[in-house]
Amino acid sequence: MGEFGGNVIVLDHPLITHKISLLRDKNTGTNEFRKLVEEIGMLMGFVALSDLPMHEVPVETPIEKTMTKMIAGRKLAIVPILRAGLGMVSGLTALVPSAKIGHIGLYRDESTHEPVEYFCKLPHPIEERTIVVCDPMLATGGSAVDAVSQIKKHGGKRIKFVCIIAAPEGVKKLSELHPDVQLYVGNLDRELNSDAYICPGLGDAGDRIFGTK
Ligand code: PRP
Ligand code: URA
Repeated sequence: MGEFGGNVIVLDHPLITHKISLLRDKNTGTNEFRKLVEEIGMLMGFVALSDLPMHEVPVETPIEKTMTKMIAGRKLAIVPILRAGLGMVSGLTALVPSAKIGHIGLYRDESTHEPVEYFCKLPHPIEERTIVVCDPMLATGGSAVDAVSQIKKHGGKRIKFVCIIAAPEGVKKLSELHPDVQLYVGNLDRELNSDAYICPGLGDAGDRIFGTK
Protein backbone atom coordinates (compact mmCIF):
# COMPACT_ATOMS: atom_id res chain seq x y z
CA MET A 1 0.00 0.00 0.00
CA GLY A 2 2.35 2.68 -1.36
CA GLU A 3 0.19 5.65 -0.38
CA PHE A 4 0.81 5.09 3.35
CA GLY A 5 4.17 3.31 3.39
CA GLY A 6 5.30 -0.28 3.54
CA ASN A 7 4.04 -1.03 7.05
CA VAL A 8 0.37 -0.65 6.10
CA ILE A 9 -1.32 -3.80 4.83
CA VAL A 10 -4.92 -3.60 3.61
CA LEU A 11 -6.14 -7.19 3.46
CA ASP A 12 -9.20 -6.87 1.19
CA HIS A 13 -9.55 -10.65 1.48
CA PRO A 14 -12.88 -12.04 0.18
CA LEU A 15 -13.60 -14.00 3.38
CA ILE A 16 -12.87 -10.97 5.56
CA THR A 17 -14.66 -8.47 3.32
CA HIS A 18 -17.75 -10.70 3.19
CA LYS A 19 -17.93 -10.76 6.98
CA ILE A 20 -17.28 -7.01 7.17
CA SER A 21 -20.20 -6.46 4.78
CA LEU A 22 -22.42 -8.33 7.25
CA LEU A 23 -21.07 -6.15 10.08
CA ARG A 24 -21.88 -3.00 8.12
CA ASP A 25 -25.57 -3.95 7.79
CA LYS A 26 -27.54 -1.97 10.37
CA ASN A 27 -29.93 -4.93 10.69
CA THR A 28 -27.19 -7.25 11.98
CA GLY A 29 -28.00 -7.82 15.65
CA THR A 30 -25.67 -8.00 18.65
CA ASN A 31 -25.25 -11.78 18.69
CA GLU A 32 -24.26 -12.06 15.07
CA PHE A 33 -22.17 -8.89 15.23
CA ARG A 34 -20.15 -10.24 18.16
CA LYS A 35 -19.58 -13.57 16.42
CA LEU A 36 -18.45 -11.87 13.22
CA VAL A 37 -15.99 -9.60 15.04
CA GLU A 38 -14.51 -12.68 16.73
CA GLU A 39 -14.19 -14.53 13.39
CA ILE A 40 -12.65 -11.54 11.64
CA GLY A 41 -10.22 -11.19 14.57
CA MET A 42 -9.09 -14.75 13.96
CA LEU A 43 -8.78 -14.35 10.18
CA MET A 44 -6.84 -11.11 10.53
CA GLY A 45 -4.63 -12.59 13.25
CA PHE A 46 -3.79 -15.48 10.94
CA VAL A 47 -2.30 -12.97 8.49
CA ALA A 48 -0.79 -10.59 11.03
CA LEU A 49 1.08 -13.40 12.77
CA SER A 50 2.55 -14.90 9.61
CA ASP A 51 6.03 -13.59 10.51
CA LEU A 52 6.17 -14.96 14.08
CA PRO A 53 9.71 -16.20 14.81
CA MET A 54 10.15 -19.98 14.74
CA HIS A 55 12.82 -22.33 15.98
CA GLU A 56 13.89 -25.85 15.05
CA VAL A 57 12.84 -28.70 17.32
CA PRO A 58 13.41 -32.44 17.04
CA VAL A 59 10.39 -34.72 16.66
CA GLU A 60 9.96 -38.43 16.08
CA THR A 61 7.23 -39.24 13.56
CA PRO A 62 5.92 -42.81 13.18
CA ILE A 63 8.38 -43.03 10.27
CA GLU A 64 11.61 -41.38 11.46
CA LYS A 65 13.32 -38.75 13.59
CA THR A 66 13.35 -35.30 12.02
CA MET A 67 13.78 -31.62 12.76
CA THR A 68 10.69 -29.42 12.45
CA LYS A 69 9.68 -25.87 13.37
CA MET A 70 7.60 -24.45 16.18
CA ILE A 71 6.82 -20.91 17.31
CA ALA A 72 9.78 -19.66 19.35
CA GLY A 73 9.02 -18.92 22.99
CA ARG A 74 5.67 -17.83 24.38
CA LYS A 75 6.14 -14.16 24.03
CA LEU A 76 2.97 -12.84 22.45
CA ALA A 77 0.81 -10.13 23.98
CA ILE A 78 -2.66 -9.30 22.71
CA VAL A 79 -3.77 -5.82 23.74
CA PRO A 80 -7.37 -4.80 23.03
CA ILE A 81 -8.33 -1.15 23.23
CA LEU A 82 -11.40 -1.04 25.47
CA ARG A 83 -14.12 -1.49 24.85
CA ALA A 84 -14.57 -2.58 21.25
CA GLY A 85 -11.16 -4.27 20.93
CA LEU A 86 -12.35 -6.88 23.44
CA GLY A 87 -14.56 -8.33 20.72
CA MET A 88 -11.51 -9.48 18.74
CA VAL A 89 -9.62 -11.11 21.63
CA SER A 90 -11.23 -14.55 21.57
CA GLY A 91 -10.53 -14.89 17.84
CA LEU A 92 -6.87 -13.99 18.37
CA THR A 93 -6.35 -16.18 21.43
CA ALA A 94 -7.89 -19.11 19.53
CA LEU A 95 -4.78 -18.90 17.33
CA VAL A 96 -2.26 -18.53 20.17
CA PRO A 97 -3.82 -19.78 23.42
CA SER A 98 -0.62 -19.09 25.39
CA ALA A 99 -0.70 -15.37 24.56
CA LYS A 100 -0.86 -12.97 27.48
CA ILE A 101 -3.48 -10.24 27.39
CA GLY A 102 -3.08 -6.57 28.27
CA HIS A 103 -5.77 -3.90 28.31
CA ILE A 104 -5.77 -0.25 27.36
CA GLY A 105 -8.82 1.78 28.32
CA LEU A 106 -9.56 4.75 26.08
CA TYR A 107 -12.70 6.49 24.94
CA ARG A 108 -13.20 9.32 22.52
CA ASP A 109 -14.47 12.56 23.96
CA GLU A 110 -17.75 13.13 22.13
CA SER A 111 -17.10 16.77 21.26
CA THR A 112 -13.34 16.95 20.72
CA HIS A 113 -12.97 13.34 19.43
CA GLU A 114 -9.71 13.22 21.40
CA PRO A 115 -8.91 10.00 23.28
CA VAL A 116 -9.31 9.99 27.06
CA GLU A 117 -7.18 7.39 28.88
CA TYR A 118 -8.61 5.49 31.85
CA PHE A 119 -6.72 2.20 32.11
CA CYS A 120 -3.46 0.53 31.14
CA LYS A 121 -2.27 -2.89 32.26
CA LEU A 122 0.28 -4.77 30.17
CA PRO A 123 1.89 -8.19 30.66
CA HIS A 124 5.58 -8.38 31.62
CA PRO A 125 8.13 -8.40 30.16
CA ILE A 126 6.42 -6.25 27.54
CA GLU A 127 9.74 -5.34 25.87
CA GLU A 128 10.33 -9.00 24.93
CA ARG A 129 6.93 -9.62 23.40
CA THR A 130 5.40 -9.30 19.97
CA ILE A 131 2.40 -7.12 20.74
CA VAL A 132 -0.86 -7.27 18.77
CA VAL A 133 -3.05 -4.27 19.52
CA CYS A 134 -6.62 -4.76 18.36
CA ASP A 135 -9.51 -2.38 17.84
CA PRO A 136 -12.21 -2.81 15.19
CA MET A 137 -12.17 0.88 14.25
CA LEU A 138 -9.36 3.26 13.25
CA ALA A 139 -11.10 6.60 12.67
CA THR A 140 -9.15 9.79 13.42
CA GLY A 141 -6.32 7.59 14.68
CA GLY A 142 -6.20 9.39 18.02
CA SER A 143 -6.97 6.28 20.09
CA ALA A 144 -4.53 4.10 18.15
CA VAL A 145 -1.69 6.63 18.39
CA ASP A 146 -2.31 7.08 22.11
CA ALA A 147 -2.45 3.31 22.75
CA VAL A 148 0.79 2.68 20.87
CA SER A 149 2.48 5.59 22.68
CA GLN A 150 1.45 4.10 26.03
CA ILE A 151 2.77 0.67 25.07
CA LYS A 152 6.08 2.20 23.94
CA LYS A 153 6.31 4.17 27.19
CA HIS A 154 6.11 0.85 29.04
CA GLY A 155 8.91 -0.56 26.86
CA GLY A 156 6.97 -2.28 24.04
CA LYS A 157 8.90 -2.50 20.78
CA ARG A 158 7.50 -5.00 18.27
CA ILE A 159 3.98 -3.70 17.78
CA LYS A 160 1.30 -4.74 15.30
CA PHE A 161 -2.05 -2.99 15.08
CA VAL A 162 -5.04 -4.92 13.73
CA CYS A 163 -8.24 -3.07 12.83
CA ILE A 164 -11.28 -4.22 10.89
CA ILE A 165 -12.21 -0.91 9.25
CA ALA A 166 -10.02 2.17 8.89
CA ALA A 167 -10.48 5.68 7.54
CA PRO A 168 -7.64 7.12 5.43
CA GLU A 169 -7.21 9.88 8.05
CA GLY A 170 -6.46 7.35 10.80
CA VAL A 171 -4.12 5.25 8.67
CA LYS A 172 -2.17 8.38 7.75
CA LYS A 173 -1.91 9.55 11.36
CA LEU A 174 -0.84 6.21 12.82
CA SER A 175 1.65 5.45 10.04
CA GLU A 176 3.19 8.93 10.26
CA LEU A 177 3.47 9.07 14.05
CA HIS A 178 4.40 5.40 14.55
CA PRO A 179 5.98 4.30 11.24
CA ASP A 180 7.52 1.22 12.89
CA VAL A 181 4.09 -0.25 13.74
CA GLN A 182 2.79 -2.86 11.28
CA LEU A 183 -0.80 -1.90 10.57
CA TYR A 184 -3.27 -4.51 9.27
CA VAL A 185 -6.57 -3.15 7.93
CA GLY A 186 -9.53 -5.32 6.92
CA ASN A 187 -11.21 -2.72 4.67
CA LEU A 188 -10.11 0.86 4.02
CA ASP A 189 -13.17 3.13 3.91
CA ARG A 190 -13.80 6.46 2.19
CA GLU A 191 -13.60 9.18 4.85
CA LEU A 192 -14.71 10.52 8.22
CA ASN A 193 -17.91 12.51 8.64
CA SER A 194 -18.23 15.67 10.76
CA ASP A 195 -18.77 13.54 13.90
CA ALA A 196 -15.53 11.65 13.11
CA TYR A 197 -17.45 8.46 12.26
CA ILE A 198 -16.12 6.29 9.47
CA CYS A 199 -18.14 6.41 6.20
CA PRO A 200 -19.63 4.04 5.20
CA GLY A 201 -18.29 2.25 8.31
CA LEU A 202 -20.50 0.23 10.61
CA GLY A 203 -21.54 2.79 13.22
CA ASP A 204 -20.34 2.59 16.81
CA ALA A 205 -18.46 -0.69 17.17
CA GLY A 206 -18.55 -0.75 20.99
CA ASP A 207 -22.29 -0.16 21.12
CA ARG A 208 -22.95 -2.83 18.49
CA ILE A 209 -20.75 -5.44 20.23
CA PHE A 210 -22.09 -4.82 23.71
CA GLY A 211 -25.67 -3.87 22.85
CA THR A 212 -25.40 -0.42 24.46
CA LYS A 213 -26.57 2.85 23.01
C1 PRP B 1 -14.03 3.66 19.23
C2 PRP B 1 -13.19 2.57 18.60
C3 PRP B 1 -11.80 3.12 18.74
C4 PRP B 1 -12.01 4.61 18.56
C5 PRP B 1 -11.59 5.00 17.18
O1 PRP B 1 -14.01 3.58 20.60
O2 PRP B 1 -13.37 1.32 19.19
O3 PRP B 1 -11.19 2.85 19.99
O4 PRP B 1 -13.41 4.85 18.74
O5 PRP B 1 -11.70 6.35 16.99
P1 PRP B 1 -10.43 7.29 16.76
O6 PRP B 1 -9.57 6.60 15.73
O7 PRP B 1 -11.04 8.56 16.23
O8 PRP B 1 -9.73 7.50 18.06
P2 PRP B 1 -14.91 4.54 21.54
O9 PRP B 1 -14.17 5.80 21.85
O10 PRP B 1 -16.25 4.71 20.90
O11 PRP B 1 -14.99 3.75 22.90
P3 PRP B 1 -15.76 2.40 23.22
O12 PRP B 1 -15.07 1.29 22.46
O13 PRP B 1 -15.57 2.26 24.68
O14 PRP B 1 -17.20 2.55 22.81
N1 URA C 1 -15.59 4.61 16.56
C1 URA C 1 -16.55 3.76 16.09
O1 URA C 1 -16.97 2.84 16.80
N2 URA C 1 -17.00 3.95 14.84
C2 URA C 1 -16.56 4.93 14.03
O2 URA C 1 -17.03 5.05 12.88
C3 URA C 1 -15.58 5.81 14.53
C4 URA C 1 -15.11 5.62 15.78
